[in-house]
Amino acid sequence: MSKILISGVKPTGRPHIGNYLGAMRQFVDLQEEFEARVFVADLHALTTVQDRDQLSKASIDVAMDYLAIGLDPEKTLIYKQSDVPEVTELTWVFNCLTTMPYLMRAHAFKDAEAKNKDINVGVFDYPILMAADILIHDADVVPVGLDQKQHLEIARDTAEKFNRIFGETFKLPEPRIQKETETIPGTDGQKMSKSYGNTIPLFATDEEIKKAVMSVATDSKSPEEPKDIEGDTLFTLHTFFTKGDDLEKVKEGYEKGGLSYKESKNILIKHITDLVKPLREKRFEIAKDTDSVRDMLSENGKKVKELISSKMEVVRRNIGLY
Ligand code: ADP
Ligand code: TRP
Repeated sequence: MSKILISGVKPTGRPHIGNYLGAMRQFVDLQEEFEARVFVADLHALTTVQDRDQLSKASIDVAMDYLAIGLDPEKTLIYKQSDVPEVTELTWVFNCLTTMPYLMRAHAFKDAEAKNKDINVGVFDYPILMAADILIHDADVVPVGLDQKQHLEIARDTAEKFNRIFGETFKLPEPRIQKETETIPGTDGQKMSKSYGNTIPLFATDEEIKKAVMSVATDSKSPEEPKDIEGDTLFTLHTFFTKGDDLEKVKEGYEKGGLSYKESKNILIKHITDLVKPLREKRFEIAKDTDSVRDMLSENGKKVKELISSKMEVVRRNIGLY
C-alpha cells in the first residue's frame, strides 16, 4: 500500500510564492509517489476570518489554486476540512489529553501574546486541530514550510500521548520540509507572509509583480560599485527565482560592479513572471467553472469521511465511548 501524504493551506487570502515554493509545489511533486490528500483548512481560517462571504469565497479559491498549480484530481483527493467534522470530534478528544502549559509553549501563541493580541480559544487550540487533521489519516508525510515544524512536533507528541494512554492507535507523521525553500523571504527581507504585507502573490498580474519587486529596499550604491550579496534581500530573491546564465550574470554584477539595482530588479521581474504566468493562465481557465470545483469538493468530502471512519471507530472504542 502506498504511503499517505496530507497537507492543507488556510483560505486566508491570496497564496504567495513563498507558500508555493515552501509547501504547495511539494504537493504536486509528491502526488505521484504518495496517496495524496490535500485540503482547504477552512476551520483553521475561522480563527482569523470571521466574514461569511469572505471565508466561503476564499475556500473555493484555495481549491482552484491547488488545481492551477497542477494537483491532479485523479491522483490527489482535494477536500474541505469542514466536510469531515470527525476532525473536530477528534480535536476534542485530544484537547482532553493536552495541558494548557504545553500549548502555551507554542510559538504562534507566544507571538500573539507578545503582541498583546486578543487571543481566541481557536488560536490557542490551533495546533491540536492540526494534529487531528493529520493523525485521523494515519498520514506518513506532511509537506510544509519551516514555520510549521513545531506544529508537526505537537502532532507527534499528541499521537504518542494518546498511544501511551489508550494503546497503539496512531501513526507518527514525518514533516517534509525542503531545506532549500524552507523560508522564502518577502519584499522586506522578513519571512514572506500574508500577515506581513510583504508578499508576491502566486497568481499576480505582471503589474503586481513589478510593483512588489520594485518595492524591495536597496542601499544607495551606484551601478558601477560592487554590491554585497550577503544579507541583500534582492539578491536572496534572485537565488530562488533567477535561472540559468542570468543568475551568474547578476552574481558577477554584484561582485565586480557594473549592475544597477534597477537592472537587477528587471531581471528578477522577468524570472518571477516566467514562473507565475503559466500558473496564472491556468488559474484563469479553472475559475470559469466554479460549480465543478464545488462538486469535486463535496464528492471528495464524502470519500474522505469514508476513508477515516474506521479510524474514528477505533478511537471511540479505545477511549471507552462504547
Ligand atoms: P502565511 O504565513 O502566508 O499565512 P500559511 O500559514 O497559509 O502562510 O502557509 C501555508 C503553507 O506555506 C505552510 O506549509 C507554510 O509553512 C508555507 N509557507 C508560508 N510562508 C512561507 C515562506 N515564506 N517560505 C516557505 N514556506 C512558507
Ligand atoms: N497550519 C497550516 C498553515 O498555517 C495549515 C494546516 C492546517 C495544515 N492543518 C494542517 C498543514 C495539516 C499541514 C497539515 O499553513
